[in-house]
Amino acid sequence: MENLEQLVTQAVADFAQASEPAKLEEAKARYLGKDGSLTGLLKGLGKLPPEERKSAGAAINVAKEKVEAALASRRDELRRVQLEAQLAAEALDVTLPGRGQTRGTLHPVMRTLDRIEQLFRSIGFDVADGPEIETDWHNFTALNTPENHPARSMHDTFYLLDEAGKVQEDVLLRTHTSPVQVRYMLAHVERHKHLEHMPEIRVIAPGRVYRVDSDATHSPMFHQVEGLWVGENVSFADLKGVVADFLRRFFESDDLRVRFRPSFFPFTEPSAEIDVAFMSGPLEGRWLEIAGCGMVHPNVLRFGGIDPEKYTGFAFGMGPDRLTMLRYGIGDLRLFFDGDLRFLSQFH
Ligand code: DAH
Repeated sequence: MENLEQLVTQAVADFAQASEPAKLEEAKARYLGKDGSLTGLLKGLGKLPPEERKSAGAAINVAKEKVEAALASRRDELRRVQLEAQLAAEALDVTLPGRGQTRGTLHPVMRTLDRIEQLFRSIGFDVADGPEIETDWHNFTALNTPENHPARSMHDTFYLLDEAGKVQEDVLLRTHTSPVQVRYMLAHVERHKHLEHMPEIRVIAPGRVYRVDSDATHSPMFHQVEGLWVGENVSFADLKGVVADFLRRFFESDDLRVRFRPSFFPFTEPSAEIDVAFMSGPLEGRWLEIAGCGMVHPNVLRFGGIDPEKYTGFAFGMGPDRLTMLRYGIGDLRLFFDGDLRFLSQFH
């Protein structure tokens, strides 16, 4: 039985040598497989004389159990080694600091719009909006700019194609927020038609507008804020007071001058451009144009369903992009629309 002991010792040594599961299974086959040496010994039992068979069989089985036990423990060991290697390879360092979340900021133009809304709300203005795809009628005709009027060419815009690729004559990307004046008047009149005295209209309408224009101070998409005040005895003096007061509050300064320069718009009469000049700072003494304005033309009031014999009103349209550039000292309008985070993240 010396043989058997050697065989067991050899098997244990072979198993210990096997450095990975596949090699271990190969080693196992040499002892316990179909043609393995222990299997061979068991098969050979039949050839022994009957009196030797029992003790030989028992000895072989003891050896077989030892080999199987050695195999099982080596399997466990290899599994543990493999698991440890995997854990080491996939380890997470939970003590590393997180990457964190960066906080977004409001776009500077949106900050300006918020500020404008807040200031106008404080003097009783409503805030309205209208569609960016506007009808030709609201954008021009109802604003006293009939077809073929030369003022239409100052507003070269983007027209829309129908499914066949033909230009749609009756809709366009609005060139200004002024059409909201008409929409608001019509809705206001409808809402209050049961009243003997129509309440005043006091509204601003901020939003995006579109023109075929692109350079450092013009972008094909930009913003406007329309203003409209309609009531009995609303005058140009009211317009001047509201705008001058707004500008002082917007720029948080009394150190500025406001000038109304005669101009022309089809939807106002008389019409003016509003210029502002700062009396100190880097832009000291320079007049900057920031809005158009005027007394609402009687035809526009009529298109809005309002009797121009009874009511008067003023309107203005200002450029919040320009106001933002002035407030923050920004020289190039295109910065607003490039989406460059180095620029945008400065506005907290
Ligand atoms: N809609 C004009 C434009 O885009 C600006 C404007 C001028 C609006 C005079 C007004 C106004 O309401 O009264 O050029």
